[in-house]
This record gives sequence, structure tokens and C-alpha cells, in this order.
Amino acid sequence: MSSGSSFYITTPIYYPSDVPHIGHGYTTVAVDTLARWHRQSGDDTWMLTGTDEHGQKMLRAAAANGATPQEWVDRLVGESWFPLLRTLDVANDDFIRTTQARHEERVTQFVQAIYDNGYIYAGEFEALYCVGCEEFKTEAEIQDGTGAFEGLKVCAIHSKPLELLQEKNYFFKLSEFQDRLLELYKTVPDFVRPESARNEVASFVRSGLKDLSISRSTFDWGIKVPWDPSHVIYVWVDALLNYATAVGYGSDPEQFARRWPAYHVVGKDILRFHAVIWPAMLMAAGVEVPRGVFAHGWLLVGGEKMSKSKLTGIAPTEITDVFGSDAYRFYFLSAIAFGQDGSFSWEDLSARYQAELANGFGNLASRTIAMIERYFEGIVPPPAQYTDADLAIQRVVAEAATNADAAIERFRIDEAITAIWTIVDELNGYITENEPWALAKDDAKRTRLETVLYTAAEGLRALAQLLSPVMPVATEKLWIALGAAETLGRLQDQPLREAGVWGLLKPGTSVNGLAPLFPRVEQ
Ligand code: ME8
Ligand code: MG
Repeated sequence: MSSGSSFYITTPIYYPSDVPHIGHGYTTVAVDTLARWHRQSGDDTWMLTGTDEHGQKMLRAAAANGATPQEWVDRLVGESWFPLLRTLDVANDDFIRTTQARHEERVTQFVQAIYDNGYIYAGEFEALYCVGCEEFKTEAEIQDGTGAFEGLKVCAIHSKPLELLQEKNYFFKLSEFQDRLLELYKTVPDFVRPESARNEVASFVRSGLKDLSISRSTFDWGIKVPWDPSHVIYVWVDALLNYATAVGYGSDPEQFARRWPAYHVVGKDILRFHAVIWPAMLMAAGVEVPRGVFAHGWLLVGGEKMSKSKLTGIAPTEITDVFGSDAYRFYFLSAIAFGQDGSFSWEDLSARYQAELANGFGNLASRTIAMIERYFEGIVPPPAQYTDADLAIQRVVAEAATNADAAIERFRIDEAITAIWTIVDELNGYITENEPWALAKDDAKRTRLETVLYTAAEGLRALAQLLSPVMPVATEKLWIALGAAETLGRLQDQPLREAGVWGLLKPGTSVNGLAPLFPRVEQ
């Protein structure tokens, strides 16, 4: 990222037709980690999340529950979607709901602008629609139903019957943007990441774009088309615009100029909306396209995309109640290559919690602090002459910090964690080899003991800093235990791009007792 420009990053705005599951939590903690990393690096950062509250899916969910759509979304957002952010320790800067006036007014304005620019016309249409996706489906996305849906056409994602819709609609001239989109993918190769997603999007666009139906007239739960109030704006057009309306499009030019354009992180299910339709809409309005779209993979349960509609949804609290929010964040962000699918299993989660968090990082922290308490009355000792082994640790720390930052620039949170984890592994090996408990028995080896424990403590200082965007709770405890808060200030204020500098922790600092960072979990 060029310095001086804002780092604005978004999650999709989720459908609050139902409660959140771990897939929604996955995207949200990934975006939060990227935002925290940039914020702590001093970048002018803004993280947006929110909810997508209009459309037929919402209308039906409300009706099925005997509520009006507004009552239904208010209840779900208040009782489940806001609390999700606390459950996962997400530090978002804003939360947009598409039923807010600040959004609805500016959507009207934007749609009017592209109408005035000549990109919208009225036409007739008939096609198969998936209410789960809120999307008309092309042949390649339609499957033959099985079981209860034998003989019907179903959605390839939801496996639920499609509905034939026949309406007079307004259309957006998406087909006119084919060349400009292909040019965009070519000149800005990072516009769509990872590469597999870029290839998929480019070949989809190359195969030809159809104009897009952008209004509906058979129901009214949506934002009215400004020139024809018998229609509401298609829910996806309404939803995509959140990214612009939330940062002042049409109302606060200064804020908009400061934040826009955004980076969007989405699941691959909604990649085309973000990498094809959204930039075309912006081009039609004469607004800058996003900086980039990163599509991550699916969490699979039993080999299938986990979803509420297929009843394989797992609530985030099922995990955080047992393992805590840090473990949730660490597990999904480290165990799955960002951009690829990953299978969730309780066995894998428990195994990694035990091996990497409890025995790896947690134990390194506990034993280092305990030894400083035992051998130095809780005061971080000064280092004496550094040996090759100590200098090797310093190099590992410096490289880990550089590599992690580079990985974050590529949005590869998993690779950043792998880079940081070299510090955990090397330091654990260093302690085993240097045997501070043996050095402590020999007064002549006192200065060597000082250097070894300073090296371990300073390595932990770097770890706390580098891991704070991923595990804000445990690293805060570690920061307090190291006594660093008193001499260096708040953890969240430590510049992340300097985390690899050696010697920041001041000898003479008083450590504080540390309860296990990742306590034993009874299954
Ligand atoms: O699509 N694995 O909302 P949505 C990984 N409102 N991520 C998953 C997932 C899984 N199994 N299931 C869901 C919508 N997600 C629209 C978005 S944006 C302008 C409008 C995550 O509630 C992933 O980020 O269906 C996916 O793209 C998103 O939730 C879909 O959420
Ligand atoms: Mg969905």
C-alpha cells in the first residue's frame, strides 16, 4: 500500500434472515485482523461491516416467523449480529444496516445518477431465480434436484428449487462494461485475488456479459426506484452500495475522498458481484473502482459448504464458549490457507489448540515469566555478551516481522502467522538447549542466565506485538505480564512495522504473574 493513503477494508454485509455461523465469523475475524495490523502500523485505517436487510429472502424469513421484515431484522441484528462482534473481539469502526436512512437516501441518489447517465432501460425478463442467493441463475449454476426436489431445477449452492420469475424490470447495461472490466483485470493484476479467483472472473467476463435486472415489482421490501416507485431496487445493487454510502458517498465528500476506494474481502460465493457487477456500477456512475477484491474459500463441514440453510451451521459461541475468542481467530486464520477451502472439525481445532496455543505459545510465555520471577525476583535482567545462539534468535525475530508484514500486504494472514510462529518454535528450542534451570544452579553462570532470560522475554515482547492483531486478548495479558505496559505504553500503540527491532523491552521492568494463556480444555 502506498503510504499516506487510507486503508479502508470491508466484510460482506450479511443477511440477518438468520443467526450468524462460523463462516460469517471467519470473514469477519480475517478482516478485523488485517485492519488491526494496518491500524497498529499507523495506517489511516477504517473497517466496515454490517447487514443486508432488504429483499425477498428477508421478507420470507420474517413472514415465516410471524414478524414484519423490519421487526425481524431489528431483532436479529440486535440479538445476534451486534453480539457476534463482541464474541469475536472485533474492533470495527462502523456497522452499516441497509435499512438506515443514511444508506437508503444515497442509494436512491446513486441509482438516479446511473439512470441519468443512460445506463438503465426498461425491459421484459424471464429466468430462474434463487431466493437463497437473491440471484438469477445461468445454466451452469443450475442442477437437477434430488430427493424431495426430484424433477425440479435447483441452485447449485443451496440445493433448493429455483423459481421462474417473469416481470417487467429495469436493466443495467452491464454488457457495455465487458471491455473496461477486462482492461481493469489486466492493468491491475491484484484487482482480484487470489489468482485462481482472478482467472475465474476474467474468463466469466470474457465469455460475455448480459444486462442485469436491477428492480423488482412483485414485493416492496426494498428501496424504491426513484423514477418509478412501483419498483424496488434489486437487493444486490442496494447491498453493494453500502461500501460507498457508509463512507459518505453523496453526503460527505471529504470523508469519501479520504476513505474511498476500499479493499473488499468476501467469500468466493459472492465474488462475481464484487469483481464484475460492483466495479461496472461504479464505472457507470463515474466513481473510482475498489482497490481490490480478495475472495477466500469456504469452510466445509462433511465436505460441503457449511450453511444454515443446509443445517450444517455451527454458531461461533459453540467454539468461543469452550476455547475463547483468540483460539477461534487463531484457528481459522492459521489452519486454512487464505483463499482456499478448509474443512472444519472439532478434532483438528482441539489438537491445534493444545499443540500450538497451550503447549507452544502459552507454555513459552508461562515458563519464561516464571523463571524471571524465580531467578530474578520478577525483574527482567539485562543482557550481557550475546552469543551466536542469541544472535540467531534476534535474526529469527527480525525476519519473522518482515515476512509477516509482507504476507499481510498480500492478504495472506495464514502465511503471516506461519512466519511469526518461527519465533515460538525457535525460542522454545532455545530454552531447551540453553537450560536456564541448569544455569541457575551455578553462580558463575549468572550473566549467561541473564542473557538467556532477557532473550526469551524480548522474544515474547515481539510475539505479543506481532500476534496482537490475531489474538488481542491473550497478547494483552502477556503484555501486562511482561511489565511492558508500564515502560512502553499500550500494546495497541506499539508500531507493528518496528516489532522486529531488537532490545525494546527494558531491563529492570517488573514482570507480573501470568495465569495460563490457553488453559486446559475438558472435552
Ligand atoms: O451473501 N465458509 O450474505 P450472506 C466461509 N448479503 N465463509 C462463509 C461461509 C462458509 N461456509 N458461509 C458464509 C450475502 N460465509 C450478501 C452479501 S455484500 C454487499 C452482500 C461468509 O449472509 C462469506 O464471507 O449469505 C460469504 O461471502 C458471506 O458469509 C455470505 O454471507
Ligand atoms: Mg449466502
